Amino acid sequence: MTFQIQLTSGDATAAPCDVLVVSVLQEALDKNSTLSGLERALGGGLFAHAKASEFEGKNEQQLDLPTFGKIPARRLLLIGAGPKGDLDAARLRALAAVGMRSALGTNVKAITFVPPLPEPDLRALGEGLVLGAYRFTKYFTGERKPKSELGKISVLVPAAGAKSAASKKSLELGVQVARAVSLARDAVNEPPNVLYPETLAGIARSLAKKHGLKLKVLGKKQIFEAGMLLHYAVGQGSANEPRFIHLTYRPKKPKKKLAFVGKGLTFDSGGLCIKPAPGMGEMKSDMAGAAAVLGLMAAVAVVRPDVEVHGIIGAAENMPDGSAYRPADVFSSLDGKTVEIINTDAEGRLVLADALTYATKLAPDVIVDAATLTGAVLVALGKTYSAFYASDDALARTLETAAREAGESFWRMPLIEELGDQLKSDIADLKHTGDRWGGSITAALFLREFVAKVPWIHCDIAGPALSERARGVVPKGGTGHGVLTFLRFVENAGS
Ligand code: BES
Ligand code: MN
Ligand code: ZN
Repeated sequence: MTFQIQLTSGDATAAPCDVLVVSVLQEALDKNSTLSGLERALGGGLFAHAKASEFEGKNEQQLDLPTFGKIPARRLLLIGAGPKGDLDAARLRALAAVGMRSALGTNVKAITFVPPLPEPDLRALGEGLVLGAYRFTKYFTGERKPKSELGKISVLVPAAGAKSAASKKSLELGVQVARAVSLARDAVNEPPNVLYPETLAGIARSLAKKHGLKLKVLGKKQIFEAGMLLHYAVGQGSANEPRFIHLTYRPKKPKKKLAFVGKGLTFDSGGLCIKPAPGMGEMKSDMAGAAAVLGLMAAVAVVRPDVEVHGIIGAAENMPDGSAYRPADVFSSLDGKTVEIINTDAEGRLVLADALTYATKLAPDVIVDAATLTGAVLVALGKTYSAFYASDDALARTLETAAREAGESFWRMPLIEELGDQLKSDIADLKHTGDRWGGSITAALFLREFVAKVPWIHCDIAGPALSERARGVVPKGGTGHGVLTFLRFVENAGS
């Protein structure tokens, strides 16, 4: 993904490119000047063909046309933008991504994209174009290795816009933000023999170096010495030792201090309570919360809001072994509470508990955690929505706003107090799991024990972290879900 993306102006019919993507509002196709220009340049028939194909410009509707050498572009792709009133940033982002995905194919080196409006939100557009072009191809060789890399995307805008420094900046910001999301996607897609706690810390190291962020990494022994014994227990059965990672972005005059905490299980076999073989491989994505935190830190480093942001990750691999932790073990947490282990497959909440306690010590205004925490949340909300829990209603609304602006789906869930009875242990302060029913809620109630009085949001992202198919800005595989929402959350806190 090393293509250039630039603003250009001029006549779409003369754009030198392989694919000309024209996004079209649903109202009055015949009044669309780009389409009229193309109708003439192609020698007629475009409107008639659109009509015959029932292309009306409905949201994400597509029409792919040959150009028979009549214009420089080899292919013309019309993409519906829906009604003008519905075209918010989220729609535009998704539209650009869908257009890119359809335009890309063999031997496409240059794409020209015509936005649906003369003055589009160029940041959202830039985000969408780059997110739509995302591919994870590093392990393909020979025939499957991509033959021709995309070299250039040109966004066609009126001449004034193409020259404006503010427009260029806005588009470039979108590109950078999308690259931060792509970093999170890459991390989720990496196989677990390549991405383990130390190499996850390596990503944090390269971010720290590139952007001048502060970084602290604790190894296995240091995690033990720091008293993060729940985190230590989860990692003790793996040859790939655990890491605790803390990145800091600190602007000159921070208006707020926010801490983001990510679950970084680079592989979750279940441990001694081992998972069944079908689907176990998906547990390479059990570090998607950590990936979202890394993506957020990368984005924050380019957007540079007036907010102090801490990115905290508990990284470990959950494996069965002679030295693995067992059901019935008791460990004490960083904040001193003792926990009786019930099921070694409920490892995420243990790692998070210590990381949350660590976060409270920074005295942030809010803690937000992100974790592929439970299978139960998939049963509750399916694969496209994340569940979130918030310690108060006003805070919940700030997350809802951020998610809407980011075009990601989050649904608030209740912290049902009576379910907390399930976490009482006969021999320790707490058990870490309850029964099957309300499994995402009891997990959240367990985490709440470790945030003291700090305002807190817990996001169970197990559904959308990994996608079975491409849809809108979302590709198949690792999605980077959460990065855009958390970034909006940070930006809104600073404004
Ligand atoms: N990482 C899993 C949750 C998960 C399941 C994420 C499916 C994505 C897809 C988590 O560590 C886990 O195993 N949770 C258990 C908890 C149970 C043992 C209380 C679960 O949900 O089954
Ligand atoms: Mn598990
Ligand atoms: Zn897990």
